[in-house]
Amino acid sequence: MGALDGKRAIVTGGASGIGRATVELFAAEGAAVVIADVNVASATQLAEAITRAGGRAIALACDVTRSEDCRRAVEAAVHSFGGLDIVFNNAGIVRRADVVETTEEEWARVMAVNVTSVFLMSKHAIPVMAGGGGGAIVNAGSGWGLKGGDRAASYCASKGAVVNLTRAMAIDHGPQNIRVNCICPGDTDTGMLREEARQLGQDEAVFLAGSAERPLARIGMPADIARGVLFLVSDAAGWVTGTTLVVDGGGLA
Ligand code: NAI
Repeated sequence: MGALDGKRAIVTGGASGIGRATVELFAAEGAAVVIADVNVASATQLAEAITRAGGRAIALACDVTRSEDCRRAVEAAVHSFGGLDIVFNNAGIVRRADVVETTEEEWARVMAVNVTSVFLMSKHAIPVMAGGGGGAIVNAGSGWGLKGGDRAASYCASKGAVVNLTRAMAIDHGPQNIRVNCICPGDTDTGMLREEARQLGQDEAVFLAGSAERPLARIGMPADIARGVLFLVSDAAGWVTGTTLVVDGGGLA
């Protein structure tokens, strides 16, 4: 028996990093997963690997900033798997720049991918989840949604918004038996973290070593975060909603 046997899930940004690890864990725990990503080639490879291993997953080309794409992701879950129980709004991007350096286009893009996406996907998913008796949504926040960080103005603003949007959605949709929580990872070894080193003009190895400076003295791995997401969507968290789960090796502490 898996913790998610019979559940149907959408994972945005599921083709790489934290999203990919979560797709793999969800599938291993028995869920059928829609892998919704702009990188459809990687999403397809992952779906094929899961299917070969006996799991259930499909890949979908989906830009989470587009309402129509989000609607199609929900439709794919219903059409392919018969319903929707779980959404992990994970897709995100980062721009390491202060407000003066950040262009207006970059600001709008970060807000669109990191925040508007949560609104759009949830807008389409919640009626379907409610119609099926309820479900669980997890939104990707960040430690920098709970405290500030340097040269990441748009990112910090976007993640702070996700943290409080999570609370608002939990209040509104609790009566429909939909739990809404936020996962706040610390530095995790993914393409995004390496991209941050590049944007800051820092040596990647030095940057990653700095990321390990926290009480548990190592960088996070995508699977560390995926296990937190699994808890939040599983029945073990049946009375948990509107909260943020910090998974960061003690960094915020
Ligand atoms: P990543 O860059 O490894 O993966 C992000 C995925 O999202 C990629 O597969 C990408 O193709 C997809 N994506 C990007 N824009 C998209 C769009 N418009 N529509 C659909 N898919 C899109 O990133 P990572 O590190 O796995 O991040 C996942 C989430 O975790 C993000 O929301 C990020 O802000 C958050 N996070 C990551 C931390 C880290 O240290 N890696 C720390 C705190 C939060």
